[in-house]
Amino acid sequence: MISYHTYKHLAKDIPMPFAFVNLDLFNKNIQSVLSRSENLNIRIASKSVRSVPMLQHILSSNKRFIGIMAFHPLEAVALAKEGFSDILIGYPCVNEFYIKEILHAAQPIVIMVDSIAQLQIIHQTAKKFNQIADVCLDIDMSTDYPGLHFGVWRSSISTASQAVDIYRWIQQHEHIRLRGVMGYEAQIAGVGNKIKGQFLKSHIISMLQNQSKKSVAKRRESVVKGLQDAGAELAIVNAGGTGSIESSVLEPWVTEVTVGSAFYAPALFDNYQHFRHEPAAGFALEITRIPHPGIYTCHGGGYIASGQIDKLKQPIPFLPIGIQPTSNEGFGEVQTPLHYNGSEQLHIGDPIFFRHAKAGELMEHFNQLYLFEQDQLIKAVASYRGMGWSFG
Ligand SMILES: Cc1ncc(COP(=O)(O)O)c(C=O)c1O
Repeated sequence: MISYHTYKHLAKDIPMPFAFVNLDLFNKNIQSVLSRSENLNIRIASKSVRSVPMLQHILSSNKRFIGIMAFHPLEAVALAKEGFSDILIGYPCVNEFYIKEILHAAQPIVIMVDSIAQLQIIHQTAKKFNQIADVCLDIDMSTDYPGLHFGVWRSSISTASQAVDIYRWIQQHEHIRLRGVMGYEAQIAGVGNKIKGQFLKSHIISMLQNQSKKSVAKRRESVVKGLQDAGAELAIVNAGGTGSIESSVLEPWVTEVTVGSAFYAPALFDNYQHFRHEPAAGFALEITRIPHPGIYTCHGGGYIASGQIDKLKQPIPFLPIGIQPTSNEGFGEVQTPLHYNGSEQLHIGDPIFFRHAKAGELMEHFNQLYLFEQDQLIKAVASYRGMGWSFG
């Protein structure tokens, strides 16, 4: 159990605010991802890590970490230049300049597609440079219930026949090659089913997820089979994310799972019934004011996560236990007041520790990540931002 005193001691020589990773917990999370995914290969979702040294650390820990799912074409190109291989961009890329960069990257990079319109742009560019572009088909994995679209709006392909139609188009265009399929079941992978204080909602989500897992497996199987029957060789059949590893493992046609958030294990990933990773990453703010007894105002803090607006997107106060944001001000752009009536004596200059709601977005606020190991500060490593990498 991490204590406030241990972290305060670790923070004593680091200028605040700062971001940190507890390597002991990070390594534990790597091990639990390996055990949750049984024998499957794992592709790291770089958007949930956003630090080259941390990506390298995960990749070098076990051979089952086979590659990267990048989130931006120029990020993929930069990673290839850094020596990363087996890079799949998880999202479409329809910009000729980016496609050209991908085609000339230091390592092969696979582009995600779900429509002929995207493929036409990729093909035109590949033809212009006399190259072959590798693509992967994104299959929609959402489930529709009456009045509820359970999942995300991403891909336009949701049946085997639609996938085969696109494969036929690819076969007729010599500058494109199909490498595989991906299906991201966001409604299972990224939706917590054990939300604190929301028993009924969690129960309904679990029920819907259990139903959805069956249709996801069926759809992925039929798409894979349809494509293989049509002659496609699928080197990649990619599934899921942090929250859905257990169901992906049960699908024999899946060759790899994508995992990102599990490594830092941000606050939103506390809300799952079937796993609990360790809170490996966080940030520290400095108390700069005590405007009233029991109120401690820190500098910085407004690191709100993306997506639908919700209180769950705020950072979670971590240590000392019991410290809370005020309901009026929340986490401010440059100042964050906090309530605390616990047993720690807090003073101006002391650190307060928090966790971000999501994994990778924290890295957009800090140039460095301070690494703690065995209750020691061992070094600082660069975030993407610290390398001047910013991909919008
Ligand atoms: C296409 C895709 N695959 C996988 C993931 C899983 O990432 P994580 O493990 O960080 O939830 C995501 C995250 O949004 C995604 O967009």
